[in-house]
Amino acid sequence: MKALLLFACILQSGLSLDNGLGKTPQMGWNSWNHFRCSIDANIVMQTADAMVSKGLKAAGYQYVNIDDCWQVARFPNKTIQSDPKKFPDMKQLADYVHSKGLKFGLYSDAGTKTCQKRPGSLGYEDIDAETYASWGVDYLKYDNCNNGGIKPEVRYPVMRDALNKTGRPIFYSLCEQGQDDPATWAPKVGNSWRTTRDIRPWWESFYPRAVLNDQWWKYAGPGGWNDPDMLEVGNGGNLTYNENIAHFSLWSLAKAPLLIGCDIHNMSKDTLDILTNSEVIAVNQDPLGVQGHRVNMTSDGAEVWAGPLSDKSVAVILLNSGSKTQNVTAHFSDIGMSGTASVRDLWAHEDQGTATDSISRSVDSHSIVMLRLTPKQL
Ligand code: GAL
Repeated sequence: MKALLLFACILQSGLSLDNGLGKTPQMGWNSWNHFRCSIDANIVMQTADAMVSKGLKAAGYQYVNIDDCWQVARFPNKTIQSDPKKFPDMKQLADYVHSKGLKFGLYSDAGTKTCQKRPGSLGYEDIDAETYASWGVDYLKYDNCNNGGIKPEVRYPVMRDALNKTGRPIFYSLCEQGQDDPATWAPKVGNSWRTTRDIRPWWESFYPRAVLNDQWWKYAGPGGWNDPDMLEVGNGGNLTYNENIAHFSLWSLAKAPLLIGCDIHNMSKDTLDILTNSEVIAVNQDPLGVQGHRVNMTSDGAEVWAGPLSDKSVAVILLNSGSKTQNVTAHFSDIGMSGTASVRDLWAHEDQGTATDSISRSVDSHSIVMLRLTPKQL
């Protein structure tokens, strides 16, 4: 009996994700939020070029990911066929992206069809994983449409094992959309898991996603991250400048994937400046990998979000989700600090003296102040 149990345990532990990837949240670009199905190899190449020339690669963004609509059919031998007009040669495209020092990602679905009704991978996991590996794919986003009602806990590990079998390290991004509380089972399956349904480029969409995602903060860590969906920073006039900053800051503090969703080639200077704030990115990529979370909130929407960093400092967001400018105060006892700390403002890029026991700032509606507090040895 004991031997049997041991065998079961070994089997079980063998069935977990061990691809060495995602030690910090993934950073890159994905085609969906801006381009939807109007995507082709030229846009992907242009995006890769712009990631290098605009300094995004230098800031840490590495994945260039094509979302839905690249696939059209299966060949008679069952391998997947990319759109011959828009993506005539996937291997060549991956080579191009690699030649820029970037990584290449694709999308598929753990169902019979993708969400845009292209062929899915359910039942074709091994053959698709082999194809991806032969093209040089480094990242797979795996969606949850047309799944025949089979539980995600059953469908998603099949692709994990197929990817592992190829011997190529492929980042495995589960897009299960929060259906079956993936934080509770996905850390053994993927490098990240969507906790929410699709994001849109406005406050009423991204802010509730940050809150929904927050309940799972304890489940995230190096190798596996909660994913409240891709960034909408730079995607249109429904997001104010301050809201874009709030969105990027909340995602960074929550150790969410930083996957740019705008048209990089044509983005504004403001958008570029937000996406390349190295002090905020450093919070996201901190090796401790603890997801910052909401520690306090008043009924007027004065919110404090915070999380520890590897050098014993604490990253703090003072957020005003209310409708009027107000003071937001972080009490050190709520954020795992005590005594006196030196204060760095991560958007003003400014040292702002010291604070003892608490810190307050006046914050406009739908805006944030993001600080890094470092304990002072007195
Ligand atoms: C959705 C997914 C989006 C995008 C889209 C493509 O289900 O959440 O991020 O991938 O499908 O059809």
